[in-house]
Amino acid sequence: MESPKFLYLQTFGCQMNVSDSEKIASLLAGVGYELTEESAAADLIILNTCTVRAKAEERVYRQLENLRPLKRKKPALLFGVGGCVAQQEGERLLEKIPYLDLVFGTHNLHRIPQIVLAAEEGRRLAEVDFIDNETRMGLFPVDDRSGGVTRFVTVMQGCDNYCSYCIVPYVRGREISRRSADIVAEIRLMAANGVKEVTLLGQNVNSYGLNDPGQPDFAGLLRMVAAIDGIERIRFTTSHPKDITRPLIDCFAELPKLCAHIHLPAQAGSSAVLARMNRGYTRPEYMEKVADLRSVRPDIAITSDIIVGFPGETEEDFTETLSLVEETGYSDIFSFLYSQRPGTAAADFDGDLPYDMKVERLDRLMAIQKKITRRYSEALVGTVQEVLVEGASKRTGQVFGRTTYNRIVNFDGDISLVGRLVDVEIIEGYQNSQLGRLV
Ligand code: 5AD
Ligand code: SF4
Repeated sequence: MESPKFLYLQTFGCQMNVSDSEKIASLLAGVGYELTEESAAADLIILNTCTVRAKAEERVYRQLENLRPLKRKKPALLFGVGGCVAQQEGERLLEKIPYLDLVFGTHNLHRIPQIVLAAEEGRRLAEVDFIDNETRMGLFPVDDRSGGVTRFVTVMQGCDNYCSYCIVPYVRGREISRRSADIVAEIRLMAANGVKEVTLLGQNVNSYGLNDPGQPDFAGLLRMVAAIDGIERIRFTTSHPKDITRPLIDCFAELPKLCAHIHLPAQAGSSAVLARMNRGYTRPEYMEKVADLRSVRPDIAITSDIIVGFPGETEEDFTETLSLVEETGYSDIFSFLYSQRPGTAAADFDGDLPYDMKVERLDRLMAIQKKITRRYSEALVGTVQEVLVEGASKRTGQVFGRTTYNRIVNFDGDISLVGRLVDVEIIEGYQNSQLGRLV
């Protein structure tokens, strides 16, 4: 029997990459690779990369340099780069990095076994061609692991929105929605294996089905998933505010399984900046969606992504971002310094801000949100929340799970509770989690 080969797989960036990495691991298991946690034990190292901001891209090059000595010790070790940096750079990566053996793009995951087998025979390959929708349809990452309490399910990929700062449409390609029948079949199987919660995943899930008259829209898909026995909770991410429709809002009123949380990236608070970002909504339109959501689910937790220092952002524009954050009362946000990405429309915009000014604004934003999050977390103290228990906490004797609002709660309990929905009284509210007591 052949001895096993070991794969060290490192994932950068978003949940879509995490989901792609699962697919990579399962495809490579088919040609004899077992996952290892130790880079030194690896026969093949793959970095699944992100290029949404320059920093993410730089981390990939740094990590390759960090890992390089392993190859001196073990010359047969193979290095591969996949994902969004691979898609962006293609063949150039092989030229730039002489010790790199293989490169595969975001549409070429299914080819990874062949690419690796070729690399084992000494060929250096870069496959980054986009493929047609018909072929892509059959290639959605299928989650074939069993067990677990909560799972991500890819429902669409790509993005057609072309926000002016964003590289995603260039490295992930056009939007494509997976067939609803395939999605439902996959979730049924998960439910049969004990999964209790699914998060429907896509760059812009709200435009699910819009390009395909044979498919339901996203609200229709949510209703189909809600009808699956055994699934107790449904979440989705990421939403685009411009595509929040009335039928989708109604789902929050009518589907008890749909959790009371939505990630609704605003990106900025000034309508002028939003227009230059090509977001397709104004500040008042965004606030109206928030109000509509709250009118059907008053307690809904809303989270956001905010970009600080977009080209031409004035102090007044930035103040509008701060006031939008306060008015909305987000339970939490991800905030980013604007990063110029090659090939995007904003890369040609005038008015790049000095780095120090961007950092100073980011600090002000983070300080304000910190207070809001803390207040939000503390306000729930004394309430009883339903928690889906996911696993053991770092602290012994405790388990953790999430409330419907997507906040982590730790409480005394043993792991026999994993997979159960239990009532927990919130006794302390912290920045990133809450402490509870089983009732
Ligand atoms: N600079 C900074 N942040 C960006 N994002 C996307 N592109 C950029 C960029 N060029 C942020 C957006 C998006 C999140 C995933 O990353 O806020 O919602
Ligand atoms: Fe990027 Fe905008 Fe598409 Fe989100 S919606 S992936 S920010 S282009």
